[in-house]
Amino acid sequence: MTQIGVLLSGRGSNFLAIADTIERGEIPGARIAAVLSNVAGAPGIHAAQARGLHTATVESRGCKRAEHDAAMLERLRDAGVELVCLAGYMRLLSPGFVDAYPQKILNIHPSLLPAFPGLDAQRQALAYGVRVTGCTVHFVDKELDHGPIVLQRTVPVLDTDDEAALAARILEQEHLAYPEAIARVLSGRYHFAGRRYVLRDAPTMAAGGTH
Ligand code: GRF
Repeated sequence: MTQIGVLLSGRGSNFLAIADTIERGEIPGARIAAVLSNVAGAPGIHAAQARGLHTATVESRGCKRAEHDAAMLERLRDAGVELVCLAGYMRLLSPGFVDAYPQKILNIHPSLLPAFPGLDAQRQALAYGVRVTGCTVHFVDKELDHGPIVLQRTVPVLDTDDEAALAARILEQEHLAYPEAIARVLSGRYHFAGRRYVLRDAPTMAAGGTH
């Protein structure tokens, strides 16, 4: 069993997609050991509690980054977490946090990185006028939205799109991409070639649209 820790700050729909996929037995060897938030009252935490999962909130407001991260790390370690999944966790990790879980932290971002890192990726994509965007699951390194890419799913931008419509279609793909990426990583059948994540013949869950 690999113990997964999910970090979130809000809605938690990616967390729920991961939890549902695990409950269906579609990510062999995965168990959610803890769901942590840095924001009091995050809906994602309520959803995790409703499922009987172990949760904790460590408020980050007014707290120094290194101190907050140390408190989060303590809870992750207490829960025996081996793989950290950032799922709408709206806070940069300190270098110390990244070092504590080398190549064991994943994040999902609502664009095809390296395009449109940072906040409001969907708005950035619309403003730029790209015809295709999507989502990226990547390992976390010390730079924002930057580490090796596990997988990406594409989403066409429609002429009729506004930010909400585009974000909703990207989110549907996120909910497929994140569980699939976790399954790939837990398979262990990959290596890094420079910053390229190279998969070796692992079975994948999702079909078209994943790259
Ligand atoms: C998602 O769009 C994710 O890509 C970004 O933050 C949003 C979180 O949504 N990092 P949710 O809380 O998982 O519903």
